[in-house]
Amino acid sequence: MKIQFQCLTGVAILAMGSAMAHAAAPTAADVAAADARAAATVKAMRPEEKTILTHGIMPLPLGPNPPKAPADAIPGAGYIAGLPRLGIPALKETDASLGVAYVGGIRKDGSTALPSGLAQAASWNPALLEQGGAMIGSEARAKGFNVLLAGGVNLTRDPRNGRTFEYLSEDPLLSGMLVGAAIRGIQSNGIISTIKHFALNGQETGRKFVDIQITDANARESDLLAFQIGIEQGQPLSVMCAYNRVNGANACDNDYLLNMVLKKDWRWKGFVMSDWGAVPTLDTAIHGLDQQSGAELDPKVFFTDDLAAKAKADPKWAARLDDMNRRVLTAIYATNLDKNDARPGAKIDFAKNGEVALEVEKQGIVLLKNNADLLPLAKNAKRIAVIGGYANSGVLSGGGSSQTDPVGGPKATIPLGGDGPWAAFFSQHYHGVAPLTAIKAQAKDANVTYRDGTIIADAVDQAKKADVAIIFATKWSTEGQDQADFSLPNGQDALIAAVAAANPHTIVVLETGNPVDMPWLDKVPAVIEAWYGGSRGGDAIASVLFGETNPSGRLPITFPARAAQLPRPVVDGYWDMETDFMGNPPTPDTKLLANYNIEGSDVGYRWFARKGEKALFPFGHGLSYTSFAADGLSVKGLSASFTVKNTGARAGAYVAQLYLTARGGEARQRLAGFARVELKAGEAKPVTLTIDPRILADWTAKGWSIKGGTYSFALGQDAEHLGAPVATKLAAKTWKD
Ligand code: BGC
Repeated sequence: MKIQFQCLTGVAILAMGSAMAHAAAPTAADVAAADARAAATVKAMRPEEKTILTHGIMPLPLGPNPPKAPADAIPGAGYIAGLPRLGIPALKETDASLGVAYVGGIRKDGSTALPSGLAQAASWNPALLEQGGAMIGSEARAKGFNVLLAGGVNLTRDPRNGRTFEYLSEDPLLSGMLVGAAIRGIQSNGIISTIKHFALNGQETGRKFVDIQITDANARESDLLAFQIGIEQGQPLSVMCAYNRVNGANACDNDYLLNMVLKKDWRWKGFVMSDWGAVPTLDTAIHGLDQQSGAELDPKVFFTDDLAAKAKADPKWAARLDDMNRRVLTAIYATNLDKNDARPGAKIDFAKNGEVALEVEKQGIVLLKNNADLLPLAKNAKRIAVIGGYANSGVLSGGGSSQTDPVGGPKATIPLGGDGPWAAFFSQHYHGVAPLTAIKAQAKDANVTYRDGTIIADAVDQAKKADVAIIFATKWSTEGQDQADFSLPNGQDALIAAVAAANPHTIVVLETGNPVDMPWLDKVPAVIEAWYGGSRGGDAIASVLFGETNPSGRLPITFPARAAQLPRPVVDGYWDMETDFMGNPPTPDTKLLANYNIEGSDVGYRWFARKGEKALFPFGHGLSYTSFAADGLSVKGLSASFTVKNTGARAGAYVAQLYLTARGGEARQRLAGFARVELKAGEAKPVTLTIDPRILADWTAKGWSIKGGTYSFALGQDAEHLGAPVATKLAAKTWKD
């Protein structure tokens, strides 16, 4: 089922993006045609050819057993040999959702870094994510990669998850629409994109063995729905299964997830690749895995001789092996790679691509607080004290396999030490345009000073002498490690409190990959969440500070007031285990359960609404330099119409949010639709949203089921500030996917 969605978004950037010529992304019809071609090719394959496409290596000098890479392999995440006799190219894979990964600079190149997934999602703008995807996909292709390991869409089950920055949001509709758009953009380059990590990969602690407990209904109405919508919208040709277990079985060895949900119920025709080092046995093939990635990281390269032997001996395995090949070939044919493969060495226009990264960050920055309209700053401010956060170097980026650095590499690197094969992943990178440089460019006549903030008295002295103090506060997060809590590290809270006490015009700019506590919030008049800002992060921040850009970002996740408000006040296992990048168990028999049935499908703001908890900043929150009104809501069946108006004096974008608030008189909150609308001063526009019935339904043994009765909806400024509810009657309905 497809969501119809009237999108009024991204108008301003489309002109810019049209310069980036790319083919259309494969549609469902293209995939069906490719599947038929693939079936014919499988018939032409010799037995010894059938285990070539089923496994790959990680062509990097990393890990305990680095493999010998073939001459045409490009250093990156993965390489799967092709079948020249049948015109099938090798698959060359690179991470990830934020751009072509840096892999420690081993290729001696760089790429355009999109802002973090959270920043992208804070735009609530699918058209913008499609442009971002098209841009990073074009760079992957130009470097010779034909598979981008992108499409990270795990819901924010725990905002302390070390990979929250890579993912999009806590809501299945928002995440699904956005990831689908990003994938469409990537695949429009004639390359394959993944959607990952399937599924319920909600924490990094013990990621390879944490066992997620969740019922079928709870999963289908939340995390799986995000994947389902993303697959419908984006037609990704590959799904990467996750490290964790789900109800006892590894996600890559999970008949329920892979065979039943993905391939049978959703009728998806692409191939499932494993996450790196996530394959415990050969039986994963029977349970739905099609390709063993980075196979040297697993206990054995299962999907070669062992698989061939099984297929020879057992017709069931022979049929499965044919299906595995057919699925990989479908992906190759649907993207036309057999005729038009990616070749390394194509020219990349980094200046043009940087404009895309800039626009994403401009739309992703969230103005959290702005007392007495302290922002935007006047360009003729006389003296500005910039403090902390390596603002003289660049903006922070997230760590792990998605680490992306622009050409020239990071501007500042903070090594965190350690040894072992994954130690290279543990260093913080500041990259791109430095906020200090961009602030100086905006306030040309001002005296702009910089202090790194390590000596509080020195920072306070500068703040006292200045008209305005801008503090950059950073918190690094990374794959392979969750956050202990929500505090800002390294005494930054004390620095902010002291500077705010010294100068009443203090602005805090946060660069974080997760929500943070703000014990100083009452003392600070203006706060901006700039996330990890990507290649042009500094420019975007300065543009918002000085009002060239009117901020329009809205939080895609809840910022909790206290950890105790969360379904799991501590991350399961966090305090008991040493950090292990791969998330292996400390001893072979260590068990770790995470009970997702506590909140069930009520992830994030839905849990807060259910419990009557108030967030520090709610899902959907974000301020503007103008004011808006959204009213006149009318709901007829699954169609909602209303008007949005810019009631202020300058142009801006409003993110309209439609929430289900009650079902049959029983309170129940769910985001039912959204639209980012650009409005000139005084302008009003009508908006119509079509509601996906799955948002209103329960998953039952018979499939989706809507109870007949009254459904109430309201427009929300955010998830906590809702307008008057409007009721509509819906007839009972039950249907299968
Ligand atoms: C990550 C994946 C990534 C893969 C290849 C894994 O550790 O979980 O997201 O695509 O490595 O680098």
